[in-house]
Amino acid sequence: MNKIPLSRVFLNDEIREAAMQAVNSGSYILGPECRAFEEELARYVGMEHCVLSSSWTAAVMLLHQAMGVSEGDEIIIPSHTAFPSVEPLIHCGAKPVFVDVDESYCLDPDAVEAAVTPRTVGILPVHLYGHPADMDRLMAIAERHKLWVMEDCAQAHGARYRGRRVGSIGTASAFSFYPSKNLTVMGDGGCIMTNDAQVAEKVRMLRNHGRKSKFTHEIVGYNLRFNEIQAAIGRVMLRHLDTLNAHRREVAALYDERLAGLVETPREQPWAESVYHMYVIRSRDRDALGAWLKEQGIATGIHYPVANHRQPAITGRYTDLPRLPRTEALVEEILSLPIYGELPLTDVDRVCGKIAEYRGSR
Ligand SMILES: Cc1ncc(COP(=O)(O)O)c(C=O)c1O
Repeated sequence: MNKIPLSRVFLNDEIREAAMQAVNSGSYILGPECRAFEEELARYVGMEHCVLSSSWTAAVMLLHQAMGVSEGDEIIIPSHTAFPSVEPLIHCGAKPVFVDVDESYCLDPDAVEAAVTPRTVGILPVHLYGHPADMDRLMAIAERHKLWVMEDCAQAHGARYRGRRVGSIGTASAFSFYPSKNLTVMGDGGCIMTNDAQVAEKVRMLRNHGRKSKFTHEIVGYNLRFNEIQAAIGRVMLRHLDTLNAHRREVAALYDERLAGLVETPREQPWAESVYHMYVIRSRDRDALGAWLKEQGIATGIHYPVANHRQPAITGRYTDLPRLPRTEALVEEILSLPIYGELPLTDVDRVCGKIAEYRGSR
């Protein structure tokens, strides 16, 4: 029996050729491929400006700096997300205010409203697992309290919220191109998006040693640039993204149907068109179920086993951390099943059959 991986990177001859052309072009950093990739990404999402950087984490660190995030600021963020969501704001001296999630596993707007203080400057919703957070309610809270909203779209390339692509709704947004993501560049990579030309310009300067022209450095920046080979790959990937996402949705629909009654399946909310970066089920015996699936040659994952407000890097730094009952319960029960843009439906069938077999045997 073949093994079923959790995810697999899309690769075809078009991608190999694009990479080779970039290798042969003689231009390697922030050249025409990077500029075209930025334009195409911005157009795809529906934001005016896109700035590439070496990862989501790097891009957001630059963005937070460009937006003026600084010592004493508070930013409201879900605890249930990848740890990197939290890092850039801390590097800028701000404090993460962790709140709970709703049943979509994204920021609970009621919890956000309750967490606003005079020091709050922004809200950082995460479209976790490819499912959009409830943006209308979050934007209304932000407007009431004069806060910015930065959408973490690392897992949600192409997802839609009430028909609009995520990443185009907040004040700014950021995407990751890490290899497991719905859109990858076969290595690390990321970008930010904004409609604010000044912020975009500042991020561009910060990523390239603080300069606008070759030998004039107007601010102190970094080298967090992007490269031509990965941009060329990303441009091809972007052309295939909708097809790959549509397949992920087909996989999810089949899981929904076959797993009903066996485990708790994810609930797509009325406002959402998820791109199922991950298909996450819940089960009280998830460790035993995951171990059993592993014996059957089926990979699973836990995203994420430790809530961020319980991570040593956080508990060692802050003393006033909240209790977040939903997050603390779900991290004990969640299990990610195999899903990717080309996962054969026969493999989905096998995973479901094995879960049914496991349930029948207990
Ligand atoms: C939700 C989320 N935010 C941020 C990141 C960080 O992305 P990167 O690895 O490109 O820095 C990731 C990926 O690990 C993620 O899944």
